Amino acid sequence: MTATKGLEGIVAASSSISSIIDGVLTYRGYNIDDLAENATFEEVAYLLWHGKLPTQAELDQLIAQLGEYATVAPAVIEQIKLYPKDTNSMAALRTAVSSLALYDEEANDMSVEANLRKAVKLQAQLPAVVAAFARIRQGLEPVAPKKGVGVAHNFLYMLTGKDPDPVAVRALDKALVLHADHELNASTFASRVTVATLSDIYSGVTSAIGALKGPLHGGANEAVMAMLEEIGTMDNIEPYIQRKLNNKEKIMGFGHRVYKNGDPRAKHLQKMSAELGKITGNTTWYEMSVKIEELVTGQKGLKPNVDFYSASVYTSLGIPRDLFTPIFAISRVSGWTAHILEQYSDNRLIRPRAEYVGPTNQKYVPIGSR
Ligand code: ACO
Repeated sequence: MTATKGLEGIVAASSSISSIIDGVLTYRGYNIDDLAENATFEEVAYLLWHGKLPTQAELDQLIAQLGEYATVAPAVIEQIKLYPKDTNSMAALRTAVSSLALYDEEANDMSVEANLRKAVKLQAQLPAVVAAFARIRQGLEPVAPKKGVGVAHNFLYMLTGKDPDPVAVRALDKALVLHADHELNASTFASRVTVATLSDIYSGVTSAIGALKGPLHGGANEAVMAMLEEIGTMDNIEPYIQRKLNNKEKIMGFGHRVYKNGDPRAKHLQKMSAELGKITGNTTWYEMSVKIEELVTGQKGLKPNVDFYSASVYTSLGIPRDLFTPIFAISRVSGWTAHILEQYSDNRLIRPRAEYVGPTNQKYVPIGSR
């Protein structure tokens, strides 16, 4: 038995949800470029869960359900009030999502209907939890969700207490479409491993949030913004990047395990970053990002991934840096839950083997003789 480090190249599941073939990303057979330009996030969530685009009536019903389910159990809001104000936002989200299960009477109902309903509940409640956490830590009360609007609109509304600008809604909606699913990425794999023991959907999503938190996965978008802020000015870019590359340190937002010729999602975020920069009158973060890309791609051949231009997009939308990865989760929960439903539909315990490389033939030595 020989291990493949990081399971690189290992095909670990069959799935009909999303595919990456020759660098092209599709959700249920629809090219991501087509969906990014034309679909709303709610249409995409429906597509991921049901395998087909919704009719107008089905979409209206989903939006109504999302509004109905978006109210978070008061006990969970009370718990969030007890979290340390400076706690890590992904740790807060992970803890709150785990708590949501305690107040859902069908949390352990494994029927197909209940699991699909819980997928919609999780999709509705993650944005509400993130917005509530963001307000509570500032000493503000959470804002009750709005009915009849999409996830992007409702999230910005619950975050600020004001109806957002349509340009901001469309930009966030597109970012949510682009992040919704991505084949067997680390967090999706974590969720499938968890539920393959026939554990519940909340446990699967909680595992996924834990996996998304790391800077090699979803945490990279926040790390990109930290880097842009640390660099600060155009003049500092070249020495900063050069130093990092010379020290063999990673530049956040570049490289990908699967895409070696570029992440198809990045160009949409780059375009959005440029447009939002113009609209807000601050193109600095965008221009700095372009310069970093020129240097990193020029010297290392590494291309930006989905996280790189997300950082300047979310900053232009006025979103605090440490909410970037929670926003990733707000979108990816659609994909996680679609994969969890798929795993349940044809389940087998996921239990690979390890190549043992430790000592052998050891003999027990009594504690007094060690
Ligand atoms: N900056 C500098 N060098 C890099 C980078 C980077 N961002 N990414 C890869 N490399 C280099 C490595 O140092 C390594 O070089 P070497 O062969 O000389 O040692 C080589 O490219 C291969 O890199 P690995 O880390 O082995 O590639 P792997 O497939 O394991 O990792 C990953 C992919 C984790 C995305 C990596 O590119 C990385 O750490 N990027 C920065 C973090 C990031 O942006 N993560 C978000 C990914 S997208 C997502 O999850 C949503």
